[in-house]
Amino acid sequence: MTLAVEFDHVSRHFGAVRAVDDVSLAVEEGCFFAMLGPSGSGKTTCLRLISGFERPTAGHVRIFGQNSETIPPNRRPVNTVFQDYALFPHLSVRENVAYGPKMAGVDRRRREAAAEEMLALVKLEGYGDRKPAALSGGQRQRVALARALVNRPRVLLLDEPLGALDLKLREAMQEELKTLQQSLGITFVFVTHDQGEALSMADRVAVFNHGRIVQHGTPQEVYERPRTRFVADFVGSANVLSPELSARAGGPGRWASLRAESIRLVAPPSGRLSGTVRTVRYLGAGHRVSVSIGGDDLVVILPAATAPPPATGTEVGLDWAAEALHEMEPDA
Ligand SMILES: Nc1ncnc2c1ncn2[C@@H]1O[C@H](COP(=O)(O)OP(=O)(O)O)[C@@H](O)[C@H]1O
Ligand SMILES: [Mg+2]
Repeated sequence: MTLAVEFDHVSRHFGAVRAVDDVSLAVEEGCFFAMLGPSGSGKTTCLRLISGFERPTAGHVRIFGQNSETIPPNRRPVNTVFQDYALFPHLSVRENVAYGPKMAGVDRRRREAAAEEMLALVKLEGYGDRKPAALSGGQRQRVALARALVNRPRVLLLDEPLGALDLKLREAMQEELKTLQQSLGITFVFVTHDQGEALSMADRVAVFNHGRIVQHGTPQEVYERPRTRFVADFVGSANVLSPELSARAGGPGRWASLRAESIRLVAPPSGRLSGTVRTVRYLGAGHRVSVSIGGDDLVVILPAATAPPPATGTEVGLDWAAEALHEMEPDA
């Protein structure tokens, strides 16, 4: 197993701001690795540490086993796709894509051929003569991708690359990016604040908060077993049970998570808890039922195939399999 990128207790502090704070991680070659976290959690700084635009205040970043401090940024086998694409407005699409090879001293014929090949790869054949301003947002995104890939990086860094696209285009690009990554076999380090995006695309997810990794694992591990309340809240629709509520439900008497789709509605007084239906919302694929239990609300997702949802104000029992309730650690 080759490690493409390794962080060994890496920190990057800006004065009192701990942008990245004692982060250790390992990205295997060929992996689609997502860094997921809210704005300001240190994701972009991590990418800049890999590309060499930042240096660690402490710790080491290794790229394919080599200490990165010994490799100047322009010699690292790494390219970045930026959130705002950073295309040159005065250059044509072809010249934008050929820019990296031009800087590397590749002659005109060869670099233009390479640019055309990359434009075909991102399905932009015939667009080479246009200026970026004459493209849609999705097309500009593809040019940015082609411009990074033309340099044949071993690691592609993507900083919220789909953030500016509307939902439908974003979903289409998610699939295309995943397919592209698999067919090229390049390591992707993909930064996003969108949990759905991270879960659906990545092989491994690292969840960031305040410059630290609070959990990493497969998308399933992170989704099904959030380690802390922060992860449960940030990564999905998990209910968070207070120690009191968890104890009343026969649980461990500590903070616990319980996925909304793991809960079944039963006739009271059976079930682990009972409460009153507060709201029912139609989701298309099912219903989202909010049940008030004392001061707490628990959310239940009912698949559309089950019986019709209960009416607001109904008393209901809530039941679930014992293993659906996961104990959590306190937030650091
Ligand atoms: N050059 C800098 N100088 C001072 N503070 C910075 C600098 N770069 C980033 N930060 C701060 O570090 C924290 C993490 O930033 P960033 O890595 O951009 O987060 P993210 O990409 O997750 O939104 C933020 O609080 C940000 O303001
Ligand atoms: Mg950022």
